[in-house]
Amino acid sequence: MSHLLSIDSLSRDDIDHLMRVAATMEPIAQRRKVTRVLEGAVLGNLFFEASTRTRVSFHTAFSRLGGSVCDTTGFTFSSMAKGESLYDTSRVMAGYCDAIVMRHPDQGSVAEFASATHVPVINAGDGPGEHPSQALLDFYTIDKEFNRQGKALKGAHVLMTGDLKFGRTVHSLIKLLALYAPMRITLVAPPGLEMPQHLIERVSRQGLDVEVRDSLAGDFSDVDVVYTTRIQKERFTAEMSEGFNLSRDFTVHRAFMDSRCNPSTIIMHPLPRDSRPEANDLDVDLNGDPRLAIFRQTDNGIPVRMAIFATLLKVEHLIERDMRDVPWFVPATVGVDDAAF
Ligand code: NCD
Repeated sequence: MSHLLSIDSLSRDDIDHLMRVAATMEPIAQRRKVTRVLEGAVLGNLFFEASTRTRVSFHTAFSRLGGSVCDTTGFTFSSMAKGESLYDTSRVMAGYCDAIVMRHPDQGSVAEFASATHVPVINAGDGPGEHPSQALLDFYTIDKEFNRQGKALKGAHVLMTGDLKFGRTVHSLIKLLALYAPMRITLVAPPGLEMPQHLIERVSRQGLDVEVRDSLAGDFSDVDVVYTTRIQKERFTAEMSEGFNLSRDFTVHRAFMDSRCNPSTIIMHPLPRDSRPEANDLDVDLNGDPRLAIFRQTDNGIPVRMAIFATLLKVEHLIERDMRDVPWFVPATVGVDDAAF
């Protein structure tokens, strides 16, 4: 692994390795232990699109490994606003940093940036393209939740809903799950926002059993994971935006979970969820429900992103021997609604 740009460059062995390394990061992510294996290393964290959790969790993950971070956000305050190319920016940043995380609105831009440097580059989202680190933390979450429930990954059934056309997280996730076939995937998207056909064909060839349904009506009682996503209105053309309103029929809410799914079905979302009522995104009426795994999922971003850095920078074998106890106070749970599993 020299860069992390797409799930395409990962084998099942690579992913299994990252999952194992992520598990060794848990004591650090949970603030019981500290490590300094990346002391002296610098991360360039370049975000040219809105972000809270991805930007902060990459920053936190690098810091918890002992490294320091330089952040830039938005085009306005970067030299790209002066017309600098991705090639030049890449070469300049590579002279300053030991790893670079980049989010950019154009599909393929992060790969173009990475082609100009030998410093590891991580794609934190390239327009509607991919978001591989999110897929890895989603997979880590599914695996952890299944272990807790005593469920097997083999043959599991995942329902993906919401914006499957522009949602880069589901593009990366479906590619990742295809490496773990046989599995069942059901896709439900509002009209015009369906999963790209080439992806459906590709993962079906790899052995995923993909079913496309046009609504959330009907029975989903054998679904193990409901993975729902935000409508990416910022990527709509003017024509698509006109008069678009997501019908509540596509909303995952408590009544849907209670009547159509089974009690062990977990709910995931890459977040952010649009909590304005008219958005009809994942409903807040599920807050506090133990089936709602969304904050366990965001928490998992730390060990997984630590594992990505440690693997790219080849220090994963040093972690266990470098751990020390944390001296500061850490609460038992960080959220007021956190269930104690
Ligand atoms: C997503 C993204 O940016 O692709 N968020 C994230 O990174 N967790 C999803 C979204 O913006 O809806």
